Amino acid sequence: MSGSPASAVLSKNERERLIDAARTMLDRAYAPYSKFHVGAAILTEAGNLYTGCNVENASYGVTNCAERTAIFSAVAAEGPGMKLKAVAVLNSATMPCSPCGACRQVIYEFGPKALIVYQGDGKLSEATAEQLLPAGFHF
Ligand code: THU
Repeated sequence: MSGSPASAVLSKNERERLIDAARTMLDRAYAPYSKFHVGAAILTEAGNLYTGCNVENASYGVTNCAERTAIFSAVAAEGPGMKLKAVAVLNSATMPCSPCGACRQVIYEFGPKALIVYQGDGKLSEATAEQLLPAGFHF
């Protein structure tokens, strides 16, 4: 994406830890319907790392994406002051996949400046939450 170098917010070590953690989540995904396994890892401003996977349901619409699973765990652990610094999201199909619209809005809520690392076309891509969701809703 164009704009300021978003990766500046993460050290090389933090970036690698996040990507590795997201990868470990691929085996935990509950995705019997789509077979599309997604793993996410997030880093909070407090310096903690949380992980999540997608959790599908026979009633498809109540499926929870990997990103939201990780973010909701972070709020449950750190409380309402949780702020997002970075998000990494990978899938087992090694398919280009940026966060869906619902996840973009949830990421934006907790970190409009958060860096998002995701699978692009044949390589990892990155962008900030604001870049992926211009004019996101907030009170
Ligand atoms: N999914 C995620 O977990 N994160 C994304 O960013 C895109 C989609 C999940 C939802 C569903 O379980 C499966 O991928 C297929 O849409």
